[in-house]
Amino acid sequence: MTLTHADFPKDFFWGVATSSYQIEGAVREGGRGESIWDRFAHTPGKTHGGDTGDIACDHYHRFRDDIALMQWLGVSHYRFSLAWPRIIPDGVGPVNQAGLDFYDSLIDALLAANIQPLITLYHWDLPQALQDRGGWANRATAEAFAYYAGVAASRLGDRVSLWATHNEPWCTVFLGHHTGLFAPGLTDLTIALQASHHVLLSHGLAVSALRGTLPASAQVGLCLNLDPAQPASNSHADQQAALRQDGYFNRWFLDPLAGRGYPQDMWDYYSQQATMPDIQPNDLSLIASPMDYLGVNYYNRDIVADDLTAPAPGVRMAQDPARPRTADREIYPEGLFDLLTRLQAEYPFTPIYITENGAAFDDMLTEDGRVHDAGRIAFYEAHLAQAERAVKAGVPIKGYFLWSLMDNFEWAMGYSLRYGMTHVDYATQKRTPKDSAHWYREFLRKNQ
Ligand code: FCB
Repeated sequence: MTLTHADFPKDFFWGVATSSYQIEGAVREGGRGESIWDRFAHTPGKTHGGDTGDIACDHYHRFRDDIALMQWLGVSHYRFSLAWPRIIPDGVGPVNQAGLDFYDSLIDALLAANIQPLITLYHWDLPQALQDRGGWANRATAEAFAYYAGVAASRLGDRVSLWATHNEPWCTVFLGHHTGLFAPGLTDLTIALQASHHVLLSHGLAVSALRGTLPASAQVGLCLNLDPAQPASNSHADQQAALRQDGYFNRWFLDPLAGRGYPQDMWDYYSQQATMPDIQPNDLSLIASPMDYLGVNYYNRDIVADDLTAPAPGVRMAQDPARPRTADREIYPEGLFDLLTRLQAEYPFTPIYITENGAAFDDMLTEDGRVHDAGRIAFYEAHLAQAERAVKAGVPIKGYFLWSLMDNFEWAMGYSLRYGMTHVDYATQKRTPKDSAHWYREFLRKNQ
């Protein structure tokens, strides 16, 4: 039997997701300030081919066409992020009304198309001015974030009821400050751990700011990327490595959000190699402020082998050669079921929205003017089947957002990875719905 939306609960949110720096372009328009991703992408050697988000999908100018595309798809929801430096160019201080006007028009156009917005406040484009003062390693950035959240909510909160503070704090923190693969490109575990605490604190402070501004019916949460961690062998060392990977990637964020503080095993492990973050009284209770949902971004599992010579968490990634892969990752749909059932068994968060899931393939525009991305359709189907299995097993999943509406700037990989269900020709900005977009449209239309 082919799965359709009718196999899921009636009030399910069906959406697509994007983020500001990946699609907007227009980085010097409308009074926008510089972000750490502008700075990073313009630093030689940091992104594939030197690609930047200067133009990206030119969504800033084409958002009405992109909304028409979403309307054609038939989605009920659209998850996108606000660029903090469009709204408060220096991170703190004067508010740029032109930036808010842009999001205002975007939201009005979405609502006119009967599409509900889910706003992410932070999808990695920190104002560079804040980075110049230490960025997330500086506690003042957490306070600046709460102020920004309040500004955004006061202007947009009358029409937007779904809010996410952060997207994937693990990436912000560890890719940004530990591996250095993402902006701001730092490689210091002590700084990363400090940043992790301030990112989580900023979430807690922003939850309060949002609750103080939004109507009581609004839903406030955040989106975590979570990877099930599995040992490469049955050896004790590899099993310990998988525990560390789980602590590094998942529990370091889940546990404090759930009110359990930082996981002791990871605290002890990190303490041997870094200075631990300064935690002030009340921080942990702010971080554990109740949320109205948890957003889960799922892409893959991690198979890890012990390697204590590697930087924290002392693991080496292994691969299962029997498994098919996308352009950049293993395809492991069962991991979504495992992750969702684990969350339900071990954590209090409810409901859960799957706020990202998707795949990059080496898509080709063919002579018939189409993109025959059968691999992506199979990927969506397999993951939706696992989500539906989890719903049947009683996990309170209430929404699914596919990453992404269209091909876009894939961070350090630039334009070399295409995650969209719509093909973007970057030379002309022509959008071509891929076969997977036609598939999603049918999935949302068909009743059985
Ligand atoms: C996630 C990010 C998103 C996109 C996808 C492919 O980690 O949140 O912006 O890059 O991966």
